[in-house]
Amino acid sequence: MVDLSTRYLGFDLDSPFVVGASPLADDLDRVRRLEDAGAAAIVLRSLFEEQITPPPSRFAVPRRGRRVAAAAQEPLAPPRFALAPEEYLEHLGRVKAAVGLPVVASLNGVTLGGWLHYAQLLEQAGADAVELNAYRMVTDPETTSRDIETGLVEMVGAVADALLVPVAVKLSPHYTALPHLARELDRAGAAGLVLFNRFYQADIDLEALEAVPDLTLSRSDELLLRLRWIAVLRGAFEGSLAATGGVHGSLDVLKAVACGADAVQVVSELLRRGVGRLADLRAEIALWLERHELDSLAELAGCLSLERCPDPTAYERAEYLHVLQSWSERR
Ligand SMILES: Cc1cc2nc3c(=O)[nH]c(=O)nc-3n(C[C@H](O)[C@H](O)[C@H](O)COP(=O)(O)O)c2cc1C
Repeated sequence: MVDLSTRYLGFDLDSPFVVGASPLADDLDRVRRLEDAGAAAIVLRSLFEEQITPPPSRFAVPRRGRRVAAAAQEPLAPPRFALAPEEYLEHLGRVKAAVGLPVVASLNGVTLGGWLHYAQLLEQAGADAVELNAYRMVTDPETTSRDIETGLVEMVGAVADALLVPVAVKLSPHYTALPHLARELDRAGAAGLVLFNRFYQADIDLEALEAVPDLTLSRSDELLLRLRWIAVLRGAFEGSLAATGGVHGSLDVLKAVACGADAVQVVSELLRRGVGRLADLRAEIALWLERHELDSLAELAGCLSLERCPDPTAYERAEYLHVLQSWSERR
């Protein structure tokens, strides 16, 4: 029997499969089926600070010389949230009671006070860990990268100090000096990084002159960005690393682990193919390890990380050069 166990956010998990933040944990029956199929931990969808304090949201549309649809003049309807804040806390309690797995609550705050207050409520409601979903779109040219990173590190430090349970931070890939930021988050008390948030690009409806939000499920090729950064950050961050975005097949899982991920979060694959897919993935990675005469997933862990590379400088530069040289007209 191959050993798939791992350690994530201080929890001993019997496999690296974490169900990522999404509607997958909205339904208690499905939560139980996720556990039966082999999920090792579950992250609930995010609680958004706007659920409590609705934002005054509207953006301007160009008018001069254009036909502007009446709809574009109307205030943007506030987003509909699946669970009101009190319902979220109650649901969290019910999920905890339904399964024996670590249950991670997710929070997307706006203000420092909001992050802190709601993270504490999530802990009090029984969350085993809190994932801070640091999804933020910065559009103000006066805001510097230093402002953003300092604010993030302060927020994470404040939340980590206030909670007894571990805190993970779900980041976007759009930071210029990610290893430095990771180290600062480490020092601030983050127990884990979840890499990366997907940025949902709104399409444009030219008739209505509106941005149209559209959520598409991920594809495996999105994983490559995650693999690269997990391999780089493995040496810069002491805590746990989880890959999210593009984990679909068993080879995706194995690659993430080889690069240094302690856990993989899966969402799109389960939404597309059903909860039972988890059991297949578990069986497939066990088979792969057996075929390669490995007794445990731990033997593969981090073997392709940058810190294990004998000459990191060559790795960084050579990989770029190899990519450019690998193009062939005959492909
Ligand atoms: C329908 C849906 C809802 C999601 N809701 C959240 C959320 O509330 N909070 C969050 O941090 N991520 C959310 N995500 C992002 C996922 O947690 C995950 O990071 C992303 O889908 C990439 O993983 P995947 O390739 O396995 O789908 C959502 C994704 C989907 C598809």
